[in-house]
Amino acid sequence: MTDITGRVALVTGANRGLGAAFVAALLERGATKVYAAARRPETVGIDDPRVVPLPLDVTDPESIRRAAEVAGDVTVLVNNAGIASNQSLVTGDLDEIRRELDTNYWGPVLVTRAFAPVIEANGGGAIVNMHSALSWYATGSYSATKAALWSASNSARVELAPAGIQVVGVHVGYVDTEMAAGAEGVKVPPRQVVDEALDAVAADEAEAIVGDVARGVKSRLHEDVRVLYPQLAR
Ligand SMILES: NC(=O)c1ccc[n+]([C@@H]2O[C@H](COP(=O)([O-])OP(=O)(O)OC[C@H]3O[C@@H](n4cnc5c(N)ncnc54)[C@H](OP(=O)(O)O)[C@@H]3O)[C@@H](O)[C@H]2O)c1
Repeated sequence: MTDITGRVALVTGANRGLGAAFVAALLERGATKVYAAARRPETVGIDDPRVVPLPLDVTDPESIRRAAEVAGDVTVLVNNAGIASNQSLVTGDLDEIRRELDTNYWGPVLVTRAFAPVIEANGGGAIVNMHSALSWYATGSYSATKAALWSASNSARVELAPAGIQVVGVHVGYVDTEMAAGAEGVKVPPRQVVDEALDAVAADEAEAIVGDVARGVKSRLHEDVRVLYPQLAR
């Protein structure tokens, strides 16, 4: 259970979309400082003296090392940065697929490896990882990155519990941000996602499952693969 009041937090991909919403919600919940980490920190638009823009590219190990050196007072980490190239795994652009995995899987894993010792040294806290409903439903390259991250979160949760660090995974369908701009269908407001994610942190939940789409996908996980993917029906 991690109360955000009085905490120092860091959000990756904080310049727009869900990242910017996380920064705003953390401030509202009483964080004393929020490192708004972004590839281009000059694009962080939130004007609050508690916000510290920080350069961080989650695919660049040297950038991660420098961020962990500067932000040595963090106790809440939000691994939010991500991309969706939505390539076919069989015929898609392999460079794009690797970049997606570097960003969505290796990014949070490397940032976690850099910051877990920092959080532990500061007395414990929380790590929030942005998964997806597609961690549990495969549609191509993006789903594979989010399934890998879901598995990594499950391992990290067990590994980091003795250090007093809780790991919260967030599952949601489409969210109303640039990433889903071209998608049709119901889109969850970013504010709802970050509120339910931070409520899960406060309640010591392992996961936040936000919206009907994510809850529906989770409820069907026990089904046979041929039922889940009707295109395979014999
Ligand atoms: N939107 C959805 O429907 C949805 C659904 C489920 C899960 N998610 C997940 O939620 C997270 C946030 O998504 P969003 O909807 O807010 O997407 P978004 O609006 O496209 O924003 C993505 C953010 O990630 C940053 N980013 C990308 N690559 C980065 C890198 N290498 N290093 C640092 N920052 C990087 C972007 O920075 P730049 O401005 O520099 O590009 C931007 O701030 C992602 O992990 C996404 O997969 C989104």
